[in-house]
Amino acid sequence: MFLPVIMAGGSGSRLWPLSRSAYPKQYLPLASENSMLQETVLRIKGSEHLAPLVICNEDNRFMVAEQLRAIDALKAPVILEPVGRNTAPAIALAALQATANGEDPIMLVLAADHVIQNNQAFIQAIEKAQALAAEDKMVTFGIVPTHAETGYGYIKRGSEVETAYKVDSFVEKPDLATATEYLNSGEYYWNSGMFMFKASRYLAELNKFQPEILAACKTAIGNTASDLDFVRVDKAAFEACPDDSIDYAVMEKTDAAVVVPLDAGWNDVGSWSALWEVNNKDDNGNAVRGDFIGENTKNCLVYGSVEGRMVATVGVEDLVIVDTKDAVMVAAKDKVQDVKNIVNQLKAEG
Ligand code: GDD
Ligand code: MG
Repeated sequence: MFLPVIMAGGSGSRLWPLSRSAYPKQYLPLASENSMLQETVLRIKGSEHLAPLVICNEDNRFMVAEQLRAIDALKAPVILEPVGRNTAPAIALAALQATANGEDPIMLVLAADHVIQNNQAFIQAIEKAQALAAEDKMVTFGIVPTHAETGYGYIKRGSEVETAYKVDSFVEKPDLATATEYLNSGEYYWNSGMFMFKASRYLAELNKFQPEILAACKTAIGNTASDLDFVRVDKAAFEACPDDSIDYAVMEKTDAAVVVPLDAGWNDVGSWSALWEVNNKDDNGNAVRGDFIGENTKNCLVYGSVEGRMVATVGVEDLVIVDTKDAVMVAAKDKVQDVKNIVNQLKAEG
């Protein structure tokens, strides 16, 4: 038995114009008819677990509640953050909440915006991880890297422990030269961004490396107003919390980390081209959402999100076309990383 903790407070700007700060990617139906958050909850159905604990921004509370209700998911009261302080504090709030009544569950910390194609392989990896977490290990899930991605954490495999490996070192978001070196060495995994450990173990490690985060989170969740649906974190106390990710704050520093290899079609869907890759495609290689007619159109991602409006293309290849109520984006599929430049430009213009 474990407690799923779902981190759903990120903003996901690389999927503009669909993903916005008011409507981040985890709440969108990007890879199936369900939202990424719903998929995250449904994915673990085949395992024995407690009611999932979701932690998100206050502004998204009704969306979370409604999406979980729509799939009949059990849920613990949702923890609401008044501001984002990244994942180290978010997980601390979850661990404090989970241990408040003297219990100490094993937590499976999940991102809310990943795609995993092979559920069974994923559940098997969770089972392995659970046994290691019960022995007080800090478990990561390692993905065999395919390119020198600089947006991920890298885990160097150490000696074998049971069915996993000790973590020799953990490096969050290395520069390109370092990432390339890691890739070529064959000794590194990508960090999948999912973790498993006892709640008490996480709190102890956080206390060792980032005691200010733990102290701020204790105050913030100590002053909560809770009801059956929501746990509201104290704003002033949480605003005073340092901003840091679990990767930098804890995983780079802990001696207790192990890595369970995960070969389950994992993808963090960080860009439009990743989304094309994980979606089903028609005979011409087009991944399509919404009403679409393509004449002589190949290998495109067409995402229509406006009811009653059709997208039509003639004689194009390798494009990403996203149609939303207030913006249309057309991009070359191999240039979609630069969508963030548009977002930055829009921010600068206010
Ligand atoms: N509740 C809450 N509050 N959730 C948050 C917050 C926050 O302040 N910030 C981010 N999240 C959620 C996001 O919604 C996402 O589900 C998850 O936490 C991870 O955050 P990202 O911002 O997407 O992290 P990342 O992609 O830069 O890096 C992490 O994931 C990579 C794999 O996708 C790291 O763990 C890397 O090491 C890893 O390789
Ligand atoms: Mg991410």
